[in-house]
Amino acid sequence: MTTPSSSGPSRAPWREVLDSHLSQTSDHEFTIGTIGRDDQNRPVPRVRTCGFRGFFPELTLHPSGAKDMEQQVEDGGNPSLYESDLFTLTTDVRMEKLAQLELSSQEIEAVFWLKDLNAQWRIKGKAFAIGNPLGETDTQEKWARSAVQKGLRVKDDGNADTSGKEKWSWEKAVTKYFANHSPFMRGSFRNPPPGQPRSQEPSDPRLKMAQKVTDLHDPVARANFRVVVIQPEEVERLDLTNPEDVRRWKWTLEGNGDHSSGDNWVETELWP
Ligand SMILES: Cc1cc2nc3c(=O)[nH]c(=O)nc-3n(C[C@H](O)[C@H](O)[C@H](O)COP(=O)(O)O)c2cc1C
Repeated sequence: MTTPSSSGPSRAPWREVLDSHLSQTSDHEFTIGTIGRDDQNRPVPRVRTCGFRGFFPELTLHPSGAKDMEQQVEDGGNPSLYESDLFTLTTDVRMEKLAQLELSSQEIEAVFWLKDLNAQWRIKGKAFAIGNPLGETDTQEKWARSAVQKGLRVKDDGNADTSGKEKWSWEKAVTKYFANHSPFMRGSFRNPPPGQPRSQEPSDPRLKMAQKVTDLHDPVARANFRVVVIQPEEVERLDLTNPEDVRRWKWTLEGNGDHSSGDNWVETELWP
């Protein structure tokens, strides 16, 4: 890919606290809100639970996923080079959320309620789906990758493998997210179409329940698999630890708002 021109945007000021919170709890689901349309084409809110998959493109694989990457992907995957403040989730292209994003200027809101920490985190921004196996010949994929790319920065922890820049690819990045799922979960991307009546047998015999996928490049599953990357524009933390002094902070991204290198997070403490 064309590499970020500079080291990219600096690390968001809310990351340290959020990372610390997430490391103290095993609940890594968040609620994802999008804008749908009812049958009279009026805008309506739509929400659902999704698993949070960390900040793009960093992901620590479980041992069997790591082994699959070693055996099936060139160099075992990408060099450790980039990091970002972009939230990720994975989804099936056949579900409703992606079409809703397309119809609403990519607007998304996500919320974590971390009960053990008395903390609510709300993230407002735009989301882009990557992982179309057609790659950049698909204009939507090309556009989504370029949006995500603006938020990437070269790791500054001294471990960045800058010699491997030419070896870094979007395909390997997405494949790692697919590898992160168990063979059974990977098989869900070969399920009959989500949300359609169970009475309707799929015409494609390859679409069945309870399949196990060990091939990281399984063409049927990968055609449906996407990584959704959220570009946060506003992050809000609500701290309910002390009921007598509830605290609330908001961070707003100022500048272009697309995480390019001039953008700046501005912190404001709010009345709760
Ligand atoms: C605990 C839990 C985790 C889930 N994780 C995901 C996920 O990571 N991605 C996803 O697309 N759906 C996930 N789902 C299913 C969604 O909540 C939802 O049913 C599905 O995405 C279809 O929604 P849509 O058609 O509105 O897109 C999860 C559900 C639960 C209960």
